[in-house]
Amino acid sequence: MSLLKIARMGHPVLGGRAKEVPDPTAPEIKRLVRDMIETMHDANGVGLAAPQIYVPLRLFVFFAPDERADTGASAEEATLHTAPLTVLINPEVEFIGDAEERLWEGCLSIPGLRGEVHRAAHLRYRGYDTDGKLIAREAKGFHARVIQHEFDHIEGRLYVTRMRDMGKFLFESEAQHWRKKDET
Ligand code: NI
Repeated sequence: MSLLKIARMGHPVLGGRAKEVPDPTAPEIKRLVRDMIETMHDANGVGLAAPQIYVPLRLFVFFAPDERADTGASAEEATLHTAPLTVLINPEVEFIGDAEERLWEGCLSIPGLRGEVHRAAHLRYRGYDTDGKLIAREAKGFHARVIQHEFDHIEGRLYVTRMRDMGKFLFESEAQHWRKKDET
């Protein structure tokens, strides 16, 4: 296994639509996914998409840990707010309803910065793992947010292009001034 270099905002690999993975079970995809997971953990991220490591394919790894879930969610709902470490290959995303949420986001390709982004609050997604098994889930809250952020990466979009108020684009080191007021 090896740590991979992460592309930063401005590199063209982050700006194009990534291509379908022809065979999710191919050995080179398994190897790539292992390296992406190691790279994501090393960088303290919760998601990493293949274009971020200079591979323009439609796949990403992510997890939505308990501690990031909304504390107000009921036990039943909490399962929608969290996800184990997952690889999603050739994913599809479908929003459920029109509700939006605004939350602070960061990105390993835009290190040290945070921005407030409005996104859909509820969605369903599907895709394949490296055994070719179908993964189909519903997601809310932070879980839904991670999916949309990573899906944007394979569509060639970074979160800054979705920001509505550039006054809420700031250094992580200053985020504590905003968190109490704005983070839900
Ligand atoms: Ni990102």
